Amino acid sequence: MPAHFLTGAELSAAQLRSLLERALELKAAPLCSQALDGRSVALIFTKPSTRTRVSFEVGIDELGGHALVLRSDELQLSRGEALQDTALVLSRHVCAVGVRTGPDATLAELAQHSEIPVINMLTELHHPCQALADLLTLREAHAELEGLRVAYVGDGNNVARSLALLGALAGLRVAVASPPGYALEPDLPLPAGASGSLELYTDPREAVQGACAVYTDVWVSMGDESSADERREALGAYTVDDALLDLAAPRAFAMHDLPAHAGEEISAEVLYGTRQRIWDQAENRRHAQKALLEFLVMPA
Ligand code: CP
Repeated sequence: MPAHFLTGAELSAAQLRSLLERALELKAAPLCSQALDGRSVALIFTKPSTRTRVSFEVGIDELGGHALVLRSDELQLSRGEALQDTALVLSRHVCAVGVRTGPDATLAELAQHSEIPVINMLTELHHPCQALADLLTLREAHAELEGLRVAYVGDGNNVARSLALLGALAGLRVAVASPPGYALEPDLPLPAGASGSLELYTDPREAVQGACAVYTDVWVSMGDESSADERREALGAYTVDDALLDLAAPRAFAMHDLPAHAGEEISAEVLYGTRQRIWDQAENRRHAQKALLEFLVMPA
């Protein structure tokens, strides 16, 4: 049983599989679990969020718990209180803490001193809660994930990295196409027990061959604003549109973690059309995270 969920690699392949099946049950009957009855979960945000905040807050409510949303500028952390002390105090009041922050080292330090599970709600390198929702969306479309090919087209960022790590753990063949300078690490270590694979490409048309889904993300992520112009230039040929989807497997659909910039990384026709599961994917954040919370706070 993992104490924390920092990269997703804490899970075994079997745990990931059962977590996704539990998320399907929770989606079918959203009020069937009161796993957090009488308990509180702290959610610390040092960066903006729409989906993560709403899906965690509503999901915790549905589980019978109370979500305590804490903006970092309102905490004593902003005045220099130690992460260790913050972790020790939170551990006395809440049953889990979600954190959206920049450096992964900050999250790791908080987790090191926490006596309760710590959940990564997005860091510079990882977005594992998003990957859970991504896998749930794929699982809804395909009874078996093992051996499916999924393409990611664009910036090799935290979303791509988490898709690669958790996708490989679920047995996916993940193909990532990025321009030079924006690629994922070629030697990214896959989680123990991963039966899937990661392949890196520069040509998006090669990556999408045989893919059942084509995923993309914004070209300018939070924190990348100072290099926005050069990013848009480098990533300009990596738009997910109907022409690119035509090169993927029959009935392939588009995915995006949102927020989206229609006309940049994805065409408006795809974003709002019938060849996508993007809005299901956004909803699935809640169901997947509820399954995760159950898993972390109710050890078997
Ligand atoms: N996908 C995602 O994490 O969305 P938010 O930044 O709105 O939470």
